[in-house]
Amino acid sequence: MLNKKIAGQLNGQVGMEFYSAYLYLEMNNYFMERGLNGFAHWYEVQAKEECDHAMRIYRYLHDEGNRVTLQAIEAPKCDFGCDREALSQALRHEELVTESINGIIATAYELNDYRTLQFLDWFVAEQAEEESNARDLLTRLGLYGESSKGLYLLDHELGKRKS
Ligand code: FEO
Repeated sequence: MLNKKIAGQLNGQVGMEFYSAYLYLEMNNYFMERGLNGFAHWYEVQAKEECDHAMRIYRYLHDEGNRVTLQAIEAPKCDFGCDREALSQALRHEELVTESINGIIATAYELNDYRTLQFLDWFVAEQAEEESNARDLLTRLGLYGESSKGLYLLDHELGKRKS
């Protein structure tokens, strides 16, 4: 069984990952309404990935003999005034997730919990990728999003994201 403090943090992370899914689903919602179906698809795939992240931690807790307390998932704050704001919120959110994962890692070090450290390795790499993707999308929107042709091509490309 895991130490109570780290089990509590991991339990909180399950909620945060499900919240991430909710946030990306809201972004899917926003982009569908805008008629940018490629962007919408990109965030739908992202929302599914976030559910996988939550379930990875959920299973780890159970494998270690800990029960998960499912928490209420907050409604996402979806005040996206424009596409750039939506993408910026996604990047800020991923930075928060990274901070949260780093906080759990710090606790695992304190407790000499090497198994949890090893488990979280995957999340360290994943967060680097998630932040990089979010930054890259913002850059590409800045480069091509101003013209309708550029936005159309970018939307088309994002629509090809595989699950
Ligand atoms: Fe699971 Fe995008 O953090």
